[in-house]
Parts: sequence; structure tokens; C-alpha cells
Amino acid sequence: MTSIPGYRLNDPTLAASPVSGQEFADLKVSLLFDDDDIAALRQAGTIVGDQIEAILDVWYGFVGGTPHLLRYFSDARTGEPIGLYLAAVRKRFGQWILDTCRAEFDGAWLAWQEEIGRRHHRSGKNRTDGVNATAHIPMRHLLALVIPISVTMRPFLAKKGASPAEVDKMHAAWTKAVLLQAILWSRPYAKEGDF
Ligand code: HEM
Repeated sequence: MTSIPGYRLNDPTLAASPVSGQEFADLKVSLLFDDDDIAALRQAGTIVGDQIEAILDVWYGFVGGTPHLLRYFSDARTGEPIGLYLAAVRKRFGQWILDTCRAEFDGAWLAWQEEIGRRHHRSGKNRTDGVNATAHIPMRHLLALVIPISVTMRPFLAKKGASPAEVDKMHAAWTKAVLLQAILWSRPYAKEGDF
């Protein structure tokens, strides 16, 4: 594990995900996510490894320039963006890019997805960094952000000389992996039995 504050992938004290192995396997089939995608993600990881800060600059530029998104990083009372919160999440976000490319998709990974979902939902948001930001991110935005996080990745995947077909494959795998996670993160938002 890295020493990034609040980072808990492979933390054995994290509660197991309520999503069963069979449900997870079925979900990957629904998404057309297979071993070729895992191979393409591994390749993507070698390409974006030294571009993380540039990718984060693009994503933070988008969130920072979009008032209805920036409010979730802002003080619930004053509406002022919380610099320490933005910086702390940015570190974990950078690690998450690499984790997505290297993911084992095992029980520890699923448990961590459940925790990241909670951290967007009122049941867990703000606690990791001890902040008093807007308490809950609506599910509609959680799902919508799959698109900017997909679209903005493509130029970075194309920067290191991979063929257009390889870039297409890596980009499709990246998009599926992001949607897969956004779906898992939406679980705390669903009524019991509806996920
Ligand atoms: C596909 C969509 C999204 C992805 C891939 C994503 C990614 C992430 C990641 C990797 C983290 C760090 C988790 C951790 O290690 O603690 C995080 C936390 C966070 N994200 Fe997102 N996010 C998405 C949607 C959104 C949206 C729509 C917002 C609204 C502005 C948002 C705001 C935040 C905030 C405020 C945190 C910190 C939560 C906390 O208090 O712990 N995210 N996100």
C-alpha cells in the first residue's frame, strides 16, 4: 500500500463489499469487459504512468471551472473551495488512475470500490479528510462524470506512439473500467434490493 493519507486499497480492515462474486462476474459480462480489456488497461498503465499530473490538471480544470461540481469540494456554509480537501483528494485520484490500470478486480478491490462509493455519498463523504464540505454528491453527477473522465483520457493514451487501433482498445477498456467503478460506487445510493 502507498502512504497516501486515506488510501485503503488492500487494507485488510476494510469491510467486504456486499456485491457477490457472481454479481460482479455478471456485471463484467453486461459491460463486455473481458481479459482483452485487462491487457489493454495494463498497456494504458505503462503509457499514462508519467502523465498523471497532466491528466489531473485537465480533470481538476474541469471540476474547478464548473461551479455546480466545485461546490462538492467547497465549504457547505461559506461556499469557499477547500484547498486542503482538493489537494488531499487529488493525491488519491492520481493513485486511482494507476490502480484502475493495474486492478486485480478481486475481493480487496471490490471492498475498496464500496468505500469509494460511500465517500461520494452522504454516508461517508468528508470523513476521510475531516472537512465540512457539501455533504453529498448526487448520483446523476457521479454517473455523468464517466464521460469527461473517458473523453479526456484519449489524448494521453495517444501520446506515446501506440497505433490508432491500440489507442482505441485502451480507450474502450478505460471507459468500461470507469463505468464499472461508477456503477459499483452507485450501490450506496440504491434502495435495499434495487442495486
Ligand atoms: C466517474 C465519476 C468519478 C470518478 C471516476 C471519481 C473519482 C474519485 C476518486 C478516485 C476519489 C478518491 C477516493 C479516495 O481515494 O478517497 C474521489 C473522491 C471524491 N470525488 Fe469523485 N469521482 C467521480 C465523480 C465525482 C463527482 C461527480 C464529483 C462532484 C464534484 C466528485 C467529487 C469528489 C469528492 C468531493 C471526493 C472526496 C470525497 C471524500 O470526502 O472522501 N466525484 N473521486
